[in-house]
Amino acid sequence: MKVASVVGARPNFVKLAPLSRALRERFHEVIIHTGQHYDYEMDRIFFDEIGIPEPDHHLGVGSGSHGKQTGEMLARIEDVLMKEEPDAVVVLGDTNTTLAGALAAAKLHVTLVHVEAGLRSYDRRMPEEINRVLVDHCSDILCCPTKTAVDNLRREGIVDGVYLTGDVMVDAMNLCMDISKRSTILERLDLRPKEYMLATLHRAENTDDDERLWGIIGAFEDIGSSLVFPCHPRTERRLRDLGLWDSLSESIKVIKPVGYLDMLQLERNALRILTDSGGVQKEAYILRVPCVTLRDRTEWVETVNDGWNVLAGASRESIVRYAKGFAPNRSQTHIFGDGEASRRIADVMESFMCSSRDTAQE
Ligand code: UD1
Ligand code: UDP
Repeated sequence: MKVASVVGARPNFVKLAPLSRALRERFHEVIIHTGQHYDYEMDRIFFDEIGIPEPDHHLGVGSGSHGKQTGEMLARIEDVLMKEEPDAVVVLGDTNTTLAGALAAAKLHVTLVHVEAGLRSYDRRMPEEINRVLVDHCSDILCCPTKTAVDNLRREGIVDGVYLTGDVMVDAMNLCMDISKRSTILERLDLRPKEYMLATLHRAENTDDDERLWGIIGAFEDIGSSLVFPCHPRTERRLRDLGLWDSLSESIKVIKPVGYLDMLQLERNALRILTDSGGVQKEAYILRVPCVTLRDRTEWVETVNDGWNVLAGASRESIVRYAKGFAPNRSQTHIFGDGEASRRIADVMESFMCSSRDTAQE
């Protein structure tokens, strides 16, 4: 049986690394790369460093407004699916690539598998929330990382095809943890373990809102030289446009985005992590590093309920206060998975596709 995995943005690549291995043990997998991300540090480095197979199709869509980008991807993915005729399409997470892959598959009546289904921040201002809801509502197989995700789907009336598989990002971390310990990033940046904080920032609700961006960047400057900031190209562009780039670069350590192995090493050794990323919040929790989230809501509610993640929003004062003093005082009760999510997803897909084939032959 043939499966097409659709990826295009950084978090899609990280999730595909372990999943692709599991899929290739039982299916013929074809990888479709939309080209949503294209800078070396946002794209190729993941294929070079963490063993994701080369894409079979590269659609070269690149950047654009949501409608233009998603529409271009939809048209080009549809062409490939019509040629490849896969038995199932796999989409991962909540990016525009995920939405385009899902729509293309659903319109062609190809079995659609959503990996990381059921997450909700309940904030429709986030483009990712729109993508999650739409993709879940047209998927045939919904692979949920947590029980909360299963419950979220049930509240929306989605019960058929829902599986609690665990989180493929745990699998990705397991796959790369040992090798990431050989990363020399701390030496290269002259950092000592637990003497620095790590920040990431790229979500549209922060970068495209001047007031929020000023609050967060002001906090970064207050924290000063102990802060390391691998800066997403979207954020760099905004900071340059607003004339904030030079002063920020003088106050804190701003670097290019790093590969996944360097990122795990930076995360593991950080005193605290400040982020608006979904994936980084979860990685902080799993690595037992206190996390200050630069958002008002999160889809990873378990990390907050357990006391290891705090929602600081975009207020300069709150961010600085939590960055200096946030210390979890409870042990962790939640697990995101046992590192077997990819295998479980492949199991579920195999039995679903075999039973659909048997029904069709009857
Ligand atoms: C996308 C996802 C977001 C995810 C993030 C991961 C959507 C709606 N958003 O946001 O959920 O958290 O990826 O990193 O899909 N750019 C470059 N080089 C690149 C990629 C982007 O310069 O390789 C710049 C361009 O100016 C582009 C901007 O970043 O316009 C935004 O890129 P885009 O892919 O639209 O969204 P992200 O902010 O990366
Ligand atoms: N990541 C990385 N290098 C960076 C920033 C993030 O390798 O400079 C990894 C991070 O460890 C996680 C994934 O990218 O595995 C998360 O992607 P991102 O924050 O871009 O997107 P989100 O999870 O918010 O959708």
